[in-house]
Amino acid sequence: MKYSAPRGTVDILPDSCEKWEKLERILRTVASNYHVREMRTPIFEHTELFNRAVGDTSDVVTKEMYTFSDRKGRLMTLRPEGTAGIARAYVENKMYALPEKLTKVFYMGPMFRYERPQNGRQRQFHQFGVEMLGVESPYVDVECMMMALTVVKALGLKNVTLHLNTLGDADSRDAYRAALQDHFRPVLGELCSDCQARFDKNPLRILDCKVDAHHPAMKSAPKTIDFLTDSAKAHFDKVCELLDMLEVDYVIDTNLVRGLDYYSHTVFEIISDDPKLGSGSTVGGGGRYNGLVEELGGPATPGVGFAFGMERLMIALEGADEEETAGIDAYVMPLGDEAKDVAMQIVAMLRANGFATDMDYASRGLKGQFKSADRFKAAYSIILGEEEVQGEFVQMKNNRTKEQTKVAFEDIVKTLEKGLGLE
Ligand code: HAM
Repeated sequence: MKYSAPRGTVDILPDSCEKWEKLERILRTVASNYHVREMRTPIFEHTELFNRAVGDTSDVVTKEMYTFSDRKGRLMTLRPEGTAGIARAYVENKMYALPEKLTKVFYMGPMFRYERPQNGRQRQFHQFGVEMLGVESPYVDVECMMMALTVVKALGLKNVTLHLNTLGDADSRDAYRAALQDHFRPVLGELCSDCQARFDKNPLRILDCKVDAHHPAMKSAPKTIDFLTDSAKAHFDKVCELLDMLEVDYVIDTNLVRGLDYYSHTVFEIISDDPKLGSGSTVGGGGRYNGLVEELGGPATPGVGFAFGMERLMIALEGADEEETAGIDAYVMPLGDEAKDVAMQIVAMLRANGFATDMDYASRGLKGQFKSADRFKAAYSIILGEEEVQGEFVQMKNNRTKEQTKVAFEDIVKTLEKGLGLE
């Protein structure tokens, strides 16, 4: 039987892992620049958490979750996104009682959605997400958007646009819901079965439908902006004013509702026109979710955040500038069984002294071993045959200058330090 990775998952091989590490490094740097600290939550949670938080009218919950029952029959789900877990942990660990009112955290890791795989869309994918909880202020919305834009800039992504909309507060949403129902009622029979189900439960979701995207009623649908309460409008106006002040370009996209149910007020997406991703592809998105913490049993706590799909960041990053993979300091090349024992001791000694070192375990001849030293970009090759073992010395070849010298065992570390400019 041949085994293959499950559909929609990928193996990340060592060459790619180095690129992932680079991406992660950049993301961590941006996070520390914004004084956002890391938080890690479980990869699976009780299914009920996602039903509650993400919402049982969202596609994510109704169609895309990996759910299983554990040995005691409890329903568990592999996390499809990170916000629900963070909000749950925030309540469970009473983080709302911390002396600092605003909690700013980030997370990176795998998420799982049963979707049709295609370029940039997988069933196991990774997100870099940020959540800011505890302060209801348009300044924090803008802090989030600025951070998302800094990520995009740090990665050198071009042709990206910030799309922005507001869903308003609960009262705005009620008025908007009713207006949407009035708008879609006459054409309900022409919409897909999903939209018909959404009509009563969550008519906003109709605007997000991919099947009915081109129905004429979509274009003429009422806009949230026309149903805002005064305070919701003031919040959104301030967000736009701050973005203008900071000279950030954005597009107000009145049909942007996002696919998850917890949002209120500001919602946004970062859309890239990079041809590698396919035009108009969303690399990241987020928004405010003022009701979520309370919904999960905590005190009323405002929140706002966003997440980027890391595979999409990687695709956009591909070829941006190909970084040389780092080489090792030394490659030890034993010739003969006796030399192997000594080689292993030399490797241990060099590693203990902080040098990245490897050796040949395949008992190959010199030619094969030199090829490996080349592939590993070793700064030095350390050659060790029978004669060398007897005389307690090695041949050290500087692979850059090609110079080869005889070095006593006790001088290997010193020679490496000198050769690598670490003295
Ligand atoms: P989301 O829009 O569902 O939001 O996902 C965020 C990003 O994850 C997307 O823009 C996309 O780049 C990536 N993504 C989603 N599904 C896939 C997939 N199947 N394959 C590859 N990438 C994918 C959230 O998840 C919210 N939790 C964001 C948020 C945080 N809102 C507030 N705080």
